[in-house]
Amino acid sequence: MRLVLLGPPGAGKGTQAKKIIKDWKVVHISTGDLFRANIKNETELGKKVKAYLDQGQLVPDELTIALLWDRLDREDTENGYILDGFPRTLAQAKALDEGLKERGQALDGALALVVPFDVLVPRLAGRRVCPECGASFHIKDQPPKKEGVCDLCGHELIQRDDDRESTVAQRIRVYEDSTAPLLDYYRSQGKLIEVDGNQPVDRVEDDVQKALQEIQ
Ligand code: AP5
Ligand code: MG
Repeated sequence: MRLVLLGPPGAGKGTQAKKIIKDWKVVHISTGDLFRANIKNETELGKKVKAYLDQGQLVPDELTIALLWDRLDREDTENGYILDGFPRTLAQAKALDEGLKERGQALDGALALVVPFDVLVPRLAGRRVCPECGASFHIKDQPPKKEGVCDLCGHELIQRDDDRESTVAQRIRVYEDSTAPLLDYYRSQGKLIEVDGNQPVDRVEDDVQKALQEIQ
């Protein structure tokens, strides 16, 4: 299965992707996670992209598309993948379609998590992530067993730099301007599946699973 996961910042893309990959035996590819790993490891790419992430701006398409193909052409993607946070612009969506066509492949669907904007800010403000294993929590809705500590690996949890309120507002604006038009792009291809992301995590997961069974 080759799936694109769409939705604004805080829609629950990462949360749902981590659940789906277990059942579908596909890999989870988040361009945001790949950029953050490059920043943490102080790679050349990391130095180039840090300011964009800090300011809630999109990384330029050419850097993002190159990073994506580098990742997609690795062997572990043979069984399929979930793209979380890619594409985010029309140019990225077209580059993905063209690259897949060259490889004799196509997307199975584009699943959009639909969440009203007023729900996103408190979700992101309360998010805490583990810099070691990538697990994600919410201080109210999905608190770790011990405050400030990762349930999975015991590392101290942190707040993402771009989860500050002013940056969140900027990220939501960027989503509306650059990424929301992709809903029409995939709708016109007959590939768009919309799921109500404004429900408890398990209910969203049930709806996502039902939708995925229909496209397989
Ligand atoms: P990225 O890391 O992709 O961030 P994002 O799209 O802003 O999305 P988030 O990771 O913030 O939200 P999410 O939907 O994954 O939600 P989550 O599951 O964590 O990108 C970061 C940056 O990288 C971009 O700003 C850009 O600079 C750059 N970038 C990345 N890709 C790029 C691209 N293709 N092109 C250019 N630049 C790119 O959930 C959020 C919180 O809500 C958590 O606390 C969670 O516990 C909680 N939650 C989740 N689901 C529910 C629920 N159903 N009910 C209640 N709470 C919930
Ligand atoms: Mg995410």
